[in-house]
Amino acid sequence: MILTPHLLVLAAGRGRRMKSAIPKVLHEVLFQPMLHHVLDLAYAIPNLSVSVVVGHGEEEVRKASEGYSGLQFFQQTEQRGTADAVKSSQVFLEKQKGHVLILSGDVILLRKTSIENLLKTHEAEKAICSVVTTHLKNPTGYGRILRNAKCEVVGIREEADGSPEEKKISEINAGIYCFQIAALFEALAKISNQNQQGEFYLTDVIEILVRENKKVVGVLFPDAEETLGINDRVALAEAEKILQKRINQFHMENGVTLRGPNEVWIDTHSEIAPDVIIEAGTRIKKSKIGKATLIESHSRIESSTLGEGVTIKDGSVLKESLIGNNSVVGPYAHLRPGSILQLGVKIGNFVEIKKSVFKDGSKASHLSYIGDAEIGRSVNLGCGFITCNYDGVKKHKTIIEDGVFVGSDSQMVAPVTVGAGSYIASGTTLTRSVPCESLVISRGKQITKPGYAKRFLKK
Ligand code: UD1
Ligand code: CA
Repeated sequence: MILTPHLLVLAAGRGRRMKSAIPKVLHEVLFQPMLHHVLDLAYAIPNLSVSVVVGHGEEEVRKASEGYSGLQFFQQTEQRGTADAVKSSQVFLEKQKGHVLILSGDVILLRKTSIENLLKTHEAEKAICSVVTTHLKNPTGYGRILRNAKCEVVGIREEADGSPEEKKISEINAGIYCFQIAALFEALAKISNQNQQGEFYLTDVIEILVRENKKVVGVLFPDAEETLGINDRVALAEAEKILQKRINQFHMENGVTLRGPNEVWIDTHSEIAPDVIIEAGTRIKKSKIGKATLIESHSRIESSTLGEGVTIKDGSVLKESLIGNNSVVGPYAHLRPGSILQLGVKIGNFVEIKKSVFKDGSKASHLSYIGDAEIGRSVNLGCGFITCNYDGVKKHKTIIEDGVFVGSDSQMVAPVTVGAGSYIASGTTLTRSVPCESLVISRGKQITKPGYAKRFLKK
C-alpha cells in the first residue's frame, strides 16, 4: 500500500443501546468479539500501525485484545463523542504526520478490498478527508450525507439533529474515514457540542474542512451490508446472519456441503477441506476439519483438529481435541481439552474423555469416563468403564497398554498400569497395576437360591 497510514479504531463508547453490562465492542459475532473482527481486518492490511481508543470497560477491552501484537491504546476518560475519542490520539498522531484511517469498533463487516479501495481513492484524489457512504432503504439512526448542487459532500447531519427533509436522505455516513492528520486536528479544535446529544461529533469536521476549501471526498460503498453499524441486539443478530452467510458461501464454494446452511455457524478462523459434510445446528470455532469428514447435527467443535474421513455423530461436543483419520465419535460424546484420538478410534454414545490419548483402533463404545489416561492400540473399553482419576486432591494417570480387553462396568483406580494383552473381567474394580497378559477378576461372589424369589416377593 502506498499511503501506509495509521489505523485508529474507536471503541470507547458505552453502547447504551445494547442494554448490557458488557462493553459493546466485546459482544460476540460468530463467537468472536466485534472488536476482533475489526482488528483482524486491520492486521490483514500490511504496514499499518494500529491503535484503539478505549474508555468504557477499558480493562476488559484491553484484555480481550491481548492477542494482537503491537496494538496501541489511547484512553478516552469520558465518553463525550466520536470527535473527543479521536482527540485522545492527538499527541501520538501529530508526531506521525501523514494520514489516518478511522474505523468504528461496531462496524465489523467491512471487506479488505473495500478498505483498500478507500485508501486508493483517498490518495488518487489527494483528499484531505475521504468518508465512506452508502445508500440505505432505512437510514434511520445514521448520520446523513449532505451534498451540494454539484453533488460534492458538504457535511454530515446526525439523526438527532436532522430536519425532516434531511432525514429523508438515504445516503448515510458509515463512520469510516481517511484524514490527513494535520488538517483533522486543526478542524477538531473548532468543533463544539452544541447539538441535540451534547456530544462532540467527529462528523462535524467534514463541514469545517469544506468551509476551509479542503478537499473532502465521499467514497460510496455499493454493498450496504458492509457498513452496518451494530448499535443494538437487533443489528447484532443481523450482522451475525450476514457474516454467517458470507462464511458459509465461501466454504460451499470450496466444496463443503452444508445441510441447512442457515443453521450452521462457522467462525472466521476455521479451515474446512473439500467433501466435508456439516449438518444443521452445528457450531465450529477455531478448528481445522480434514477431507470427507462428516459432522452430524447439533455438534459443537472448538479449537480442535479433525483428520480425514472422520465421523462426528449427532450432538457431540469437542474442545481442544485432536481426532485422527477415520475415527468415529458420538452420538452425544463429550471430548474435553487434551483428548487425542489416533487413527480409526471409535468413541460411542455418552462417553466423556479428558486429557487422554487413544492409540490406533481402540474403542470406548458406550457410557464411559476416561480422564488422564493413555490407552494403547486396539484396546476395547467395555460399557460403563470409568477411570477413577481423582482422589479429591490430585489427578492420577491410568495406562492401558496395547490389546487390553476391559469388560463392562469396570473401574480403574489410578494411578494404575495394565500390561499389554490383559483381560479385565466385567465388574472389576482394579486398584493395582497388573503385568502383561493377566486375567483380572474382582467382584463379589454370586449367591443363588433357587425358588427364593417368590417367597421374597410375598414378604
Ligand atoms: C456514528 C456517526 C454517524 C454514523 C454512524 C455509522 C458520529 C457523531 N456519528 O454514529 O454519523 O452514521 O456512526 O455507524 O460520529 N465512541 C467512542 N467514544 C465516544 C463515542 C463513541 O470511542 O465518546 C466509539 C464507539 O465505541 C463506536 C464508535 O465510536 O465504536 C461510534 O459511536 P456510536 O455511538 O456507535 O455512533 P453512532 O451513533 O452509531
Ligand atoms: Ca454505531
